[in-house]
Amino acid sequence: MASISIRNLVKRYGNFTVIPDLNLEIADHEFVVFVGPSGCGKSTLLRIIAGLEPISSGDLYIGDKRVNGVRAAQRDIAMVFQDYALYPHMRVYDNMSFALELRGTPKAEIDARVKRAAALLHIEPYLDRKPKELSGGQRQRVAMGRAIVRNPKAFLFDEPLSNLDAKLRGQVRAEIKALSQELKTTMVFVTHDQIEAMTMADRIVVLQSGTILQYDTPETVYERPANQFVAGFIGSPAMNFFPVEWRDERAILSQGATAVPLDGETAGRLRQPGNAVLGIRPEHFAVVTDADGIAINVKLVEPLGSDTLLHFDLANVSAIARVDPSLRPKIGDRLSLRPQPGKTHLFDAANGQVLR
Ligand SMILES: Nc1ncnc2c1ncn2[C@@H]1O[C@H](COP(=O)(O)OP(=O)(O)OP(=O)(O)O)[C@@H](O)[C@H]1O
Ligand SMILES: [Mg+2]
Repeated sequence: MASISIRNLVKRYGNFTVIPDLNLEIADHEFVVFVGPSGCGKSTLLRIIAGLEPISSGDLYIGDKRVNGVRAAQRDIAMVFQDYALYPHMRVYDNMSFALELRGTPKAEIDARVKRAAALLHIEPYLDRKPKELSGGQRQRVAMGRAIVRNPKAFLFDEPLSNLDAKLRGQVRAEIKALSQELKTTMVFVTHDQIEAMTMADRIVVLQSGTILQYDTPETVYERPANQFVAGFIGSPAMNFFPVEWRDERAILSQGATAVPLDGETAGRLRQPGNAVLGIRPEHFAVVTDADGIAINVKLVEPLGSDTLLHFDLANVSAIARVDPSLRPKIGDRLSLRPQPGKTHLFDAANGQVLR
């Protein structure tokens, strides 16, 4: 069990700076998820914590111990990779016990630990099989079992579920979450999957070009994104963005001069800079019948079962609204939409920072 503390971390590959200056505090027992676009440095950061990658400058602490020069094997941290990397010629049991045998752990204790991990992960029936005789989800659980038996201070997961189909992903996701609550071990998890990030994390780190743009609970990152990048990255389908300005005592979408009904608080925030970027999530449009809405033409309809996505063009922006399927909208329908009060976001048009 351990906290992880990263201070003024810089990581360069030759002349290329992947991480310019990063500070991050992960509490003991915390489940932290890293998200961000491909190439932003998620795996690099994980490999640095694991000790598989040297630091260019800065400090890394695990618990209260500075571990900059400490080798991976001595850090007591388990990393589970995307491809699991099981030993193909070894039985599941041996895959799990191998590291303990190398350490010279007594046979009886190894056996107890393997059996306990196998029970926790529901893989007892497969202990005598080889990895190739297992499904993807079972292999993934063996990889986790191999990590668990070592009783590490922290687990690092680099997109461990990306090879699984949707149903299995959901299942293993729930298992990892339950496991983290049972083991009470610090977990750092990298994913591209929005649902994984939102459902598993105590806190989410949103990274862009090796820089943390926001580090907060899933609710806060979703409800109060710190900037336009985070707002567009978290949530699916993504938030709609419209350039907007305050003109003649009204909010006007800059392209197309459509008036947009904003609640008084949001209007007040827009009034000061005079122009900004208005963010509205697809789920935060209400379909209205009064004249107060924004008239749109339905361009495309995507029924998802639980909701329906409407695509439309507004002020030169291709936008999406998520509506109730009972509306049964059709292509070409003319509808009136209004942003739900208190659910809109305003960003500085120049630097993308949220306007509060
Ligand atoms: N050994 C290396 N030498 C040089 N550059 C590297 C090396 N490893 C990674 N990089 C670069 O560092 C940047 C960050 O890579 P990293 O693998 O951490 O990204 P990532 O966020 O994990 O991306 P993905 O989501 O695609 O897995 C990338 O631009 C990558 O090309
Ligand atoms: Mg990666």
